Amino acid sequence: MIRPRNERPRARITGTGRYSPERVVTNTELESLVDTSDEWIRTRTGIRERRIADDDTSTADMGAAAAREAMGRAGIEPEDIDVLILSTATPDRLLPSTACDIQASLGAKNAAAYDITTACSGFPYGLALAEGHIAADQAKTVLVISAEKMSAIIDWSDRSTCVLFGDGAGAAVVQPAEDERGILSTFTKSDGTLAELLWRPAGGASIPLDIAVLDSRSHLVQMAGPEVFKAAVRSMCEAAGSALERAGVAAEEIDLLVPHQANIRIIESTAKYAGIPMEKVYVNVDRYGNMSSATVPLALDEARETGRVGPGSLVLLVAFGAGFTWGSAVVRL
Ligand code: UT7
Repeated sequence: MIRPRNERPRARITGTGRYSPERVVTNTELESLVDTSDEWIRTRTGIRERRIADDDTSTADMGAAAAREAMGRAGIEPEDIDVLILSTATPDRLLPSTACDIQASLGAKNAAAYDITTACSGFPYGLALAEGHIAADQAKTVLVISAEKMSAIIDWSDRSTCVLFGDGAGAAVVQPAEDERGILSTFTKSDGTLAELLWRPAGGASIPLDIAVLDSRSHLVQMAGPEVFKAAVRSMCEAAGSALERAGVAAEEIDLLVPHQANIRIIESTAKYAGIPMEKVYVNVDRYGNMSSATVPLALDEARETGRVGPGSLVLLVAFGAGFTWGSAVVRL
C-alpha cells in the first residue's frame, strides 16, 4: 500500500547553485555561420544570446562548479553527499557516467553517483528521484545536478537547431524537510513513440560511430521543430496542471513559475494554460537559449539570487524534452 504523502519523510531543496560559461555568442555572430538573422531568432524563439563553453570546459567541470555553489549555500561538505544524480544529454564520455567524474572532482567519496538521460526535463526527474531516495530513507543528502554542453552535440551547419541551444549548469541539494517547506509534489511522464522527432540518430550501440556516420552528421542533434513545439506546449501544460493538482495548490498561490527555457512562445502558452500571469514567470531564454536540463535549476538559482523568490516562496517547475519526457514539481522554498 502506498503510504499517504504526509506520512512519508518529505524532501526540501536546501541550496541551489549555477554555472555559465563566460563566452557570450550573440544572434548577430551566428549570422556569419548559417543563413539566419537576429530578427528571425528573436521573433521565433525570444533568444538574443547564449553562453558557449570553451574546448577545455567539460560537462563535468560545469556540473561540479554549479554543485559547489549549491553545497556552499546548503552548508554541506562533499563527504555529506549520499547520492549524486546528474542529468545530462551531453555526457563527457559514454562510459562511465559523468556523475562519477563529478563525484571524483568534488571528493564526494560516500556518494552513489549516476547519470539520468531524460533530456530537457532532467531536473524535475532528478528531484523526483531525490525525493524517493529520502522517502525510502536511503539518503539524507542528495545532490541533483543538471549540466549540459549542448555546443558539443549541435550541428553547427544546421540553422534550424544551432541557433537554439547554449551551455550551462544548475544544481540543488535536497535533504529531509523539517517544517512545512519542501517538495510538495513531483510529476513525470514519457512518450517513447515520439523519440525520432528530437534525437541523435547514430553514434550509439545500434549504429556505432564510423566514417559514414560522421560524414552524414547523424551523430548530432536533429529536430522536427514545429512537431516538437506542439508536443512541448501540450506536455508542459499537462505537467503544470498535474503538479498543482498533486500538491493541492491553486495556480493563484504560486509565487513563481520556472519553466524550461526553449522558446518564449512555449513559455507563454504554458503560463496561460496554468493560469499564471507572465509577471509571475521567470524568463531568461533571451540570455541563455535552451540549455536542455540546466535551464530550470539555473533559472531557479537566478530567481533566488535576484530576490524573485526567497524562503517560503511557492514555486512551480515545469520542463519538457527529448524522449519525449516531461516533468514538474511544486516546491515550497
Ligand atoms: O528543449 C525542448 C525541445 N525543443 C523545443 O521545445 C523547440 C520547439 N520548437 C521550436 O521552438 C520552433 O519550432 C523553432 C524555433 C525550432 C522553429 O520555429 P517555427 O516557427 O516552428 O519555424 P519553422 O521550423 O516552421 O520554420 C519556418 C521557416 C522555414 O522556412 P520556410 O520553409 O517557411 O521558407 C525555415 O526554413 O523558417 C526557416 N528557418 C529559419 N530561418 C532563419 C528555420 N530556422 C531558421 C533560422 N533562421 N535559424
